[in-house]
Amino acid sequence: MKPITVVVHGALGKMGREVMAAVCRAPDMEVVGAVDIQAARERLDLPDTLRKVPLSSDLGSLLQDCHPQVLVDFTIAEASMSSARLAAKQGVNLVIGTSGLSSDDIKEIDQLCQANKVGAVVAPNFTIGAAVLLNAVKAAAKLFDYVDIIEMHHHEKADAPSGTALATAKAMLQSRGKPFLYSKTKKETLSGTRGGEVEGITIHSIRLPGLMARQEVIFGAAGQTLSLCHDAISRECYMPGVILAIREVVKRQGLVYGLDALLNLEGGNEGV
Ligand SMILES: NC(=O)c1ccc[n+]([C@@H]2O[C@H](COP(=O)([O-])OP(=O)(O)OC[C@H]3O[C@@H](n4cnc5c(N)ncnc54)[C@H](O)[C@@H]3O)[C@@H](O)[C@H]2O)c1
Repeated sequence: MKPITVVVHGALGKMGREVMAAVCRAPDMEVVGAVDIQAARERLDLPDTLRKVPLSSDLGSLLQDCHPQVLVDFTIAEASMSSARLAAKQGVNLVIGTSGLSSDDIKEIDQLCQANKVGAVVAPNFTIGAAVLLNAVKAAAKLFDYVDIIEMHHHEKADAPSGTALATAKAMLQSRGKPFLYSKTKKETLSGTRGGEVEGITIHSIRLPGLMARQEVIFGAAGQTLSLCHDAISRECYMPGVILAIREVVKRQGLVYGLDALLNLEGGNEGV
């Protein structure tokens, strides 16, 4: 069978480099090109192989030259949306991990998929652990009235709160069907100390060197709390999810939002 051909957008970034290496290791995939605004040369050495692939800062012309089946995007939200428009119009399927996309952006990606008959997997978090956590918090959200999210990331993270924290909040509200209760503080002596609030859910963002990515969801009720926590210890943890998304996106048309939608969490899995 022919390998699935992949172009990585944001190829010189932390996630992009990890994706290039993971796709090179996958026996059924092939990196055929790399794009990054910082591209200063025309070819990029592939990790673990002797091959080089075209590297460009111009996504449109690179896609025309390489004709990939899939574009994997880990950049910044604005770049991600313009690349989604370009790629979908050229019939390229999309795997997007960039955070900071708005709900209007997600709607637009869905429309791009319909209009151009391509598939897209957009996941604010590609780890299996976060998908399992999401499933668990959706169940707890129906039974607990109070919840806080604490998310911790490295100090270079551009956005706050994290895309994962917002997606977790949205999923819990959807599952519950109503806002959570929020205990107001009478006197906040330091503004912002209680965190940002989304329909009763408070989100606290911690940014420190030394951290990678951690999310804790703490539910409260009379006489008990329930804490569910996921730690991303190295960027490898995202790769099984990204590779699964690449395999799945070429088989479907339309938008899949969230890695959990690709995992059979109710019925059990053979492992990814
Ligand atoms: N979904 C997930 O599981 C997940 C996991 C980790 C990170 N992320 C997100 O992925 C994104 C990238 O993270 P990172 O840690 O690799 O960041 P990074 O800053 O190391 O890499 C981003 C890369 O994108 C490039 N870039 C920026 N603007 C561009 C443009 N206009 N055109 C082309 N390339 C452009 C940069 O030059 C850089 O090489 C962030 O939004 C981050 O929050 C998502």
